[in-house]
Amino acid sequence: MKYHNFDNFTALTEALSQQWLDVIQTTPDGSSFALAGGSTPAPVYQRLDQLLSNIDAHNPIKLVATDERWVPDQDTQSNEGLFRRCLSGSAAGKRWQLVSLKNASSTPEVATEAISVRLNEQLPQAFSAVLLGMGADGHIASLFPGAPTQHDDLACLAAVHPQTRQSRMSLSLPRLLNTKRIWLVITGAEKRQVLEQAIENNLPVASLLREAGCTIDVFWCP
Ligand code: 6PG
Repeated sequence: MKYHNFDNFTALTEALSQQWLDVIQTTPDGSSFALAGGSTPAPVYQRLDQLLSNIDAHNPIKLVATDERWVPDQDTQSNEGLFRRCLSGSAAGKRWQLVSLKNASSTPEVATEAISVRLNEQLPQAFSAVLLGMGADGHIASLFPGAPTQHDDLACLAAVHPQTRQSRMSLSLPRLLNTKRIWLVITGAEKRQVLEQAIENNLPVASLLREAGCTIDVFWCP
């Protein structure tokens, strides 16, 4: 784990989006990214959108959510909807393609196998990077405390938010770990302490810390 500390989120956003753009520009054959939802990363997505809209290169980019709420894209709770709103400029420029974690099934439980097939077909290689957030309970993606981190050998699994009971689809831990880079974006002293005590408290993020095959770059600001 390597910390990158910033005075504020604007500085963090600039550093991470530039690093992200660099990965895109140095992978002409195509890059793929798994992206967190929630309230933290939106400014990073908006800044990357600006940067992407200002470059000529059309290196293929595939995006997938690390997890999605089982709601329509129009719903403000939708992570895929968040990506479409934040990355609208580059979407218009057809700079990226989204691989959805959703389908028309009534529940994520029903959809899991079909989505896993889709993920394996459309995203067979290691991600170029996974951008994760973390909850105050130490969850990453929708891998919540005390809940499974994978279902059989599928690339995704259904989950339920422990407080809101909201249905979710999450990439499995093994699929999240099949990546060349991990960017963990957290803010505030509380989350930093949760991360630093994650292994002794056996929180979901601890699995990432224990099993990651690459450095975990932690982007942090107060
Ligand atoms: C989601 C995320 C989730 C998020 C954490 C942190 O869909 O909610 O993917 O894992 O990263 O819950 O959320 P905040 O950034 O809102 O604190």
